Amino acid sequence: MPLPATLTPDAPIVILTGAGISKESGLETFRDADGIWSKVRIEDVATPEAFARDPVTVQGFYNARRQSLLNPNVQPNAAHAALARLEQAWSGPVLLVTQNIDDLHERAGSTNLIHMHGEMLKALCEICDASSPWHEDLSDEAICPRCGSAGGLRPDVVWFGEMPYEMERIFAALARCALFISIGTSGNVYPAAGFVQEARMVAGAHTVELNLEPSSGVTAFAEARHGPATEIVPAYVEELLALAG
Ligand code: APR
Repeated sequence: MPLPATLTPDAPIVILTGAGISKESGLETFRDADGIWSKVRIEDVATPEAFARDPVTVQGFYNARRQSLLNPNVQPNAAHAALARLEQAWSGPVLLVTQNIDDLHERAGSTNLIHMHGEMLKALCEICDASSPWHEDLSDEAICPRCGSAGGLRPDVVWFGEMPYEMERIFAALARCALFISIGTSGNVYPAAGFVQEARMVAGAHTVELNLEPSSGVTAFAEARHGPATEIVPAYVEELLALAG
């Protein structure tokens, strides 16, 4: 499908990414057959109740994922790089909203970025509410760099039942975007899964799904292209940049 004739190079773009964009960098997704939720239960590691009940198990779950992310073999891939290139070359605003808690978008060069589910490489202090960069294992002996307390640090990630970050800023951008692109997400988790409706109904945006296979929300999109992110995302970005001339 060609780009919409109404799309101009200064048009505002909102992009949503999910775990699928980082799969080819070597990080696991959640709901693929071999995904994280096929090995561990959300109720045991990704809710505030789980953390209150069994902090050692929850900290251990994120400590393992943090170390996987810090493995030198895990690098941004061509899809992350293409989105950074789009932000730099597009004359309109490009807001990248990621559900991912990895830092691959930053390392690829994206700057106008919101981590709506938080960041695995940050620790949140439940005593002073500070968020600090954190690359080590977390435990109840870890000391908050801001308030010096021990026992209050958790991963700065949004668990099920908690409010995602920067929702006002995200909905403000969706309300005025001309193009909404969803990449590497199964469309199972709200509010992210509802962003396509918001962009289409409120802003009249053109909506595109770029995913390995049709997501559960694919029918809400005006256009869908399926294949590995490292192939279909750079191709779509090149089409957009050709428009920008
Ligand atoms: N290229 C493109 N898409 C891919 C690739 C790939 N190489 N590999 C997998 N995918 C797609 C899958 O087809 C799937 O639709 O990525 C999607 C990943 O879906 P999920 O595993 O459900 O991950 P995501 O949508 O990001 O989950 C959303 O759920 O568990 C919570 O907080 C967690 O942020 C996460 C949220």
